[in-house]
Amino acid sequence: MSSFQSAPGTVLITGTTSGVGLYAVKALIDLGWKVITANRSPLKAEDAAVKLGLPFRCPNQLEHIYLDLSDLNSVRQGAKNLLDSLDGPLDALVCNAAVYKPRLSKPERSSQGYELSMATNHFGHFLLIQLLLESLSNSKRPVWKGRSWGIESSRLVMLGTVTANYQELGGKIPIPAPADLGDLSGFKQGFTDPISMASGKRFKPGKAYKDSKLCNMITIQELHRRFKDSAVVFSSLYPGCVANTRLFRNTPKIFQWLFPLFQRFITGGFVSQSLAGKRVAEVVSSPDFGVSGVHWSWGNRQKKNGEPFSQKLSERITDPVTAKNVWDFSLRLVKAN
Ligand SMILES: NC(=O)c1ccc[n+]([C@@H]2O[C@H](COP(=O)([O-])OP(=O)(O)OC[C@H]3O[C@@H](n4cnc5c(N)ncnc54)[C@H](OP(=O)(O)O)[C@@H]3O)[C@@H](O)[C@H]2O)c1
Repeated sequence: MSSFQSAPGTVLITGTTSGVGLYAVKALIDLGWKVITANRSPLKAEDAAVKLGLPFRCPNQLEHIYLDLSDLNSVRQGAKNLLDSLDGPLDALVCNAAVYKPRLSKPERSSQGYELSMATNHFGHFLLIQLLLESLSNSKRPVWKGRSWGIESSRLVMLGTVTANYQELGGKIPIPAPADLGDLSGFKQGFTDPISMASGKRFKPGKAYKDSKLCNMITIQELHRRFKDSAVVFSSLYPGCVANTRLFRNTPKIFQWLFPLFQRFITGGFVSQSLAGKRVAEVVSSPDFGVSGVHWSWGNRQKKNGEPFSQKLSERITDPVTAKNVWDFSLRLVKAN
């Protein structure tokens, strides 16, 4: 790890009422960042932050805004309110929020009629990124480079996952099916009823989550391709298996009980919420993570003093033709609504 130090800035992070997002807020505040959280219940976000001992009603350190990622109008309004209220540019955006509803027998729909996990996890974040990219490009966060001051790149950080990366064992799990966008006919047909999957095939709720995370990771690769000469560093990360967060609230109770034990004692892949939050904060703030287009991982089986590394990604994530099509279809769908 380098000894370069960059000044803290202002970061927007989605989904902080619990889990990785909540602990990332804490880690970023500990590093001196001003954090703005975006949630469908700012009061719930404030309550969770207060319970963790984070600042209460200190707008210089922590603010909570309303933004429901499942509703594109709310994303537009939330982004506008944010940009109107900022004194300067945004220095980092963390796309963290997600829903995982593996037991649905039929799809739930967003305000615009899209399948809910794709709408929340991908379309909501995709639109938010379009609306905040210009502000991120204008960031000028100072960094001390040993002999002189320089400018640290702003960061756009996406929470990715092992189950969306076919390159890794966790990405090959056949239940319900690995992430795979097929021929994108679900996008082509507009993703509204009766369409519920990117491939246009039968609804599989667990796979819908994995596909949406695959879109998240594709988006980062495509952003890197399109804007690699910009001042923004685009990256994703797998923070480890944080097996006891509320992400798993819709799984069977027995799974919620056994999964953390399995990850802790059998696979050794378990990572605490606190450690996962610190990893997010490092990717946001440290010059060591200032490389665009990288998917950071600390490995699935956590080794003591394990170092972060650039995880190889499957072709399903890196293929430029798929990525361009996902981008173009997503742009059309978020603009159309
Ligand atoms: N846990 C893991 O093992 C793991 C592993 C790899 C990657 N990840 C990724 O890490 C991220 C955080 O997951 P987590 O495990 O910390 O789950 P979590 O505790 O369930 O946190 C998810 C957050 O998203 C928010 N959210 C849901 N729908 C929203 C919406 N429509 N608008 C705004 N916010 C919304 C939730 O708020 P509400 O209270 O309003 O629902 C909550 O604050 C996700 O992107 C997940 O894919 C997690």
